[in-house]
Amino acid sequence: MCGIIGINSNKEVTSTILNSLRKLEYRGYDSAGIATLNSGYIQEVKCEGRVDNLEKNIIKNKLLGNLGIGHVRWATHGIPSTLNAHPHSSDNVSVVHNGIIENSTLLKKFLVKKGHKFKSQTDTEVIVHLITEYLKKNNLIDTLTKVLKKLHGSFALGIIFKDEPDLIVGARRGSPLAVGYGPGENYLGSDSYALKSMTNKITYLDDGEFCIIKKTEVSFFNEQGKKINKKILSLTTDEQNYNKGDYKHFMAKEIDEQPLTIKNCINEYIDKKNNEISIFNFPWKIKDISSITLVGCGTAYHSCLIAKYWFEQLTSFDVHIDIASEFRYRKNRFKKETLYVFVSQSGETADTYAALDLCNKNNVKTCSVVNVVESSIARDSKFVLPIHCGPEIGVASTKAFLGQMLVLYLLCLKMGKLNDDIKKKDYISKIKSLLNLSKNIELSLKSENDIQTISNSFTNIKGSMFLGRGYSYPIALEGALKLKELSYIHAEGYPAGEMKHGPLALIEDGMPVVVIAPRDEYYKKTMSNMQEVIARGAKVLLITNKSTDEIFSENIWQKIEVENTEDDLLPFLITIPLQKLAYYTALKKGYDIDKPRNLAKSVTVE
Ligand code: F6R
Repeated sequence: MCGIIGINSNKEVTSTILNSLRKLEYRGYDSAGIATLNSGYIQEVKCEGRVDNLEKNIIKNKLLGNLGIGHVRWATHGIPSTLNAHPHSSDNVSVVHNGIIENSTLLKKFLVKKGHKFKSQTDTEVIVHLITEYLKKNNLIDTLTKVLKKLHGSFALGIIFKDEPDLIVGARRGSPLAVGYGPGENYLGSDSYALKSMTNKITYLDDGEFCIIKKTEVSFFNEQGKKINKKILSLTTDEQNYNKGDYKHFMAKEIDEQPLTIKNCINEYIDKKNNEISIFNFPWKIKDISSITLVGCGTAYHSCLIAKYWFEQLTSFDVHIDIASEFRYRKNRFKKETLYVFVSQSGETADTYAALDLCNKNNVKTCSVVNVVESSIARDSKFVLPIHCGPEIGVASTKAFLGQMLVLYLLCLKMGKLNDDIKKKDYISKIKSLLNLSKNIELSLKSENDIQTISNSFTNIKGSMFLGRGYSYPIALEGALKLKELSYIHAEGYPAGEMKHGPLALIEDGMPVVVIAPRDEYYKKTMSNMQEVIARGAKVLLITNKSTDEIFSENIWQKIEVENTEDDLLPFLITIPLQKLAYYTALKKGYDIDKPRNLAKSVTVE
């Protein structure tokens, strides 16, 4: 949420900052800006909207300098506008900020009394004026230590100073921030993705730390302003994952990549020779775990919801699931014998991180299922299970969802086996089915033409409902989430059996309703619920799997059949047409698929 880049170099930086901001645009895209230090002055160019607009403004208003900071914004305080776009600058200081300053109103009052004039509606501007104020009487390190202490809330900051021609400051609390190292230049970035095209040598700041980035050296400090040593990590280079290739959108590419990402993940975890799941170094004994709590947000939460069904079906562990933003505001009874599992693609989602942090503070067993292994959630959990999907750039999560489900399913099988809940024969048979999953996903992707035609009927609708039972209920939630976030159509996911308790009143003549009913143990019951909506005028799109059994209804409007596989694995296959339905509906409506309105990848504010 919001993106930061900073470069201190011995050559012009504006075009490199622009390129990095383009890469960061997935984190926020309602406004953008760059500030540089040019001949002893801070210069800035900002705009409302996308980085393309910023580039046009820069062509008109030349922006020179060998040192600069840039930002793409996802508005929290103040409307998206040029005035509220970052950087925010005084004559002496310029700041880019991710996060929220919770005590900004109080700080602003104090600063206004001291004669500071504010230009924007943002919380960030207080940081600019606080630094300007403290610099009057303090050296740089003392200023930073005192100002950072005054700020409540979360931040990742990039700061440049009129009187410091060879220095960018970075500071972190709550929002991620990384430093990159290059030849004769060094960088600051809100994630490694922005830095990867420039370097693979990276250091992550931890909470409370700040750094001073010079052209040829970087120094790190703790909250008290004391110098500290930090490790430099080497990142793997997987640049091709950051390009769309021949695809129009990252989302289309990421949907199509799913057979491959699932195969990679299976190769990482399954020892085919011994029919074994290789989850090594699990730091706890299985007899010390009696229950599991799964926590995530949005799509990641849906994967937790499905995992609950698997764990309950296949193991004897008690399973609880929670939305991260609720988990931390309830009076949880933290239990030593519970394994707390945090699921997050980015590994930086503020609510999920805060829930993990709370668990760590209560000294319980924490494990994370993440895509970004260098992320805060991965680093701060006691055990990490990566999903091995490669970078996911489209804001709507697709391949990460399948990856999360897969890793949670593997964890369920492994724990079930270790706990003697799953018989060896069944365990081996389930592992063997998993080896065909990638192929089955590939075949299920072939329903392309049907979905394209069906999506025509979704473009002008007022709303839709997605219904499912058992494993298909979380998939219904996920299908509805995808449709609403991409095509801005109101869509609700519902347990099929719950319709008659209220939502049936929403069904109108001709309303498209997506019924997710693979031929599993719930199939017949869902078919009855389907008839109830058809009887009230709904046009039903049935998503099921191939089978020799007849579908006993003549009144279905459209039908998509995915491949057949064992029941546990059907959620992977029935997700595919739902992802495509959302994609093609949004495409036909002409919306920005990779950057839906009001959203951003990696939600680093509460
Ligand atoms: C929806 C979507 C979001 C994320 C959620 C959690 O398509 O992408 O709902 O799933 O913001 O993000 P992560 O997984 O990064 O914690």
